[in-house]
Amino acid sequence: MSTTLSDPEESTTPAEPMAFVDLGAQHAEISEQVFEAMNRVIQDNSFVDGSAVGSFEDAWARYCGVARAVGVASGTDALELSLRAIGVGPGDEVIVPANSFIASAGAVMRAGACPRFIDCDPIHLLMDPTQIASVVTPRTAAIMPVHLYGQLAPMDEICRAAETLGLAVVEDAAQAHGASQGGQRAGNWGAAAAFSFYPGKNLGAYGDGGAIATRSEQVAYCIEALGNHGSHARYEHPTLGFNSRLDSLQAAVLSAKLARLDHWNRARRAAADRYDEMLADVPGVIRPSTGEANEHVWHLYVVRVPERDRVLAALQASGIPVAIHYPTPIHLTGAFAHLPYAAGDFPIAEKAADEILSLPMHPHLRVSQQERVVEALSAVLT
Ligand SMILES: Cc1ncc(COP(=O)(O)O)c(C=O)c1O
Repeated sequence: MSTTLSDPEESTTPAEPMAFVDLGAQHAEISEQVFEAMNRVIQDNSFVDGSAVGSFEDAWARYCGVARAVGVASGTDALELSLRAIGVGPGDEVIVPANSFIASAGAVMRAGACPRFIDCDPIHLLMDPTQIASVVTPRTAAIMPVHLYGQLAPMDEICRAAETLGLAVVEDAAQAHGASQGGQRAGNWGAAAAFSFYPGKNLGAYGDGGAIATRSEQVAYCIEALGNHGSHARYEHPTLGFNSRLDSLQAAVLSAKLARLDHWNRARRAAADRYDEMLADVPGVIRPSTGEANEHVWHLYVVRVPERDRVLAALQASGIPVAIHYPTPIHLTGAFAHLPYAAGDFPIAEKAADEILSLPMHPHLRVSQQERVVEALSAVLT
């Protein structure tokens, strides 16, 4: 297996198509291990609840440094089942940052509770812990920090606020596989952390998948039942649950990939360092920064630029794959129009949504490709 992070000698002609996330290059690196692992599942006919699932759950718990991990069908389910497992439900409120993927707040609604949005800090765009106390009501049950773009939200402050206010913490770690703060990975802070294994994530399945990581045996036990029709033993259903299981083929793929996760995260960090250097003199670009004590895993490399929509269109026209994560803060989406929020409520998140631009980022990104991205960005901005 190759351990090369990137090949600086490789040349990229301007016409060569570039991917925002190059899953083909990733698969090429590990196809042998993936196919072997999938074949074992197929030969054993163990497609659901097979030993591949337990092995991956154990490996993921060890990797996160927590007691237990439980596989589920998606990151969204991991969030919803975590909330349900700690008793969040109808009548409760959960504090969520306005700038996240809609699934963070969607999972709160699906658990029967209501999101209370707060703004983010203007530098890292992570949940601003100083705003927590101002939105707490007698119904507030939990805080859901989102480890956005690959770095942990300020967990010391968030956990301190949670303790003072008597609230639970559920981490949305869908973008933070392997990220840590003060040496502690996601899952070590809250009651549970929810991971997504959507294919483009730092650790991605070959389809949908998710898991929770938790220090609590009790939370893990509860989520196992919730994801399996309320059952711990066949045809015994003391409570109702859902069908939300990580299937064995996905677990086998994830185990094969987990062996490469640290290596790939290092490659992402190297690519982020290169972007930082290359973008230092490009006028108007605000580069992303890493929070104190954070080890970033760069799920996304998000810059801020003036006239973002013009820049986005020009880059796309010249074949540079760029994206926006996310164009509309959650409180302004149609899905949450029934809640009492309006434009102007979260000025930092709203301003960021007009300025952010995600550049191509993945472990197999070549120097020449990054040069092409930065050249195109400079040409548009100067
Ligand atoms: C921050 C965040 N939360 C939750 C999710 C939901 O994960 P999934 O797509 O696996 O349901 C995602 C996925 O993109 C995400 O980025």
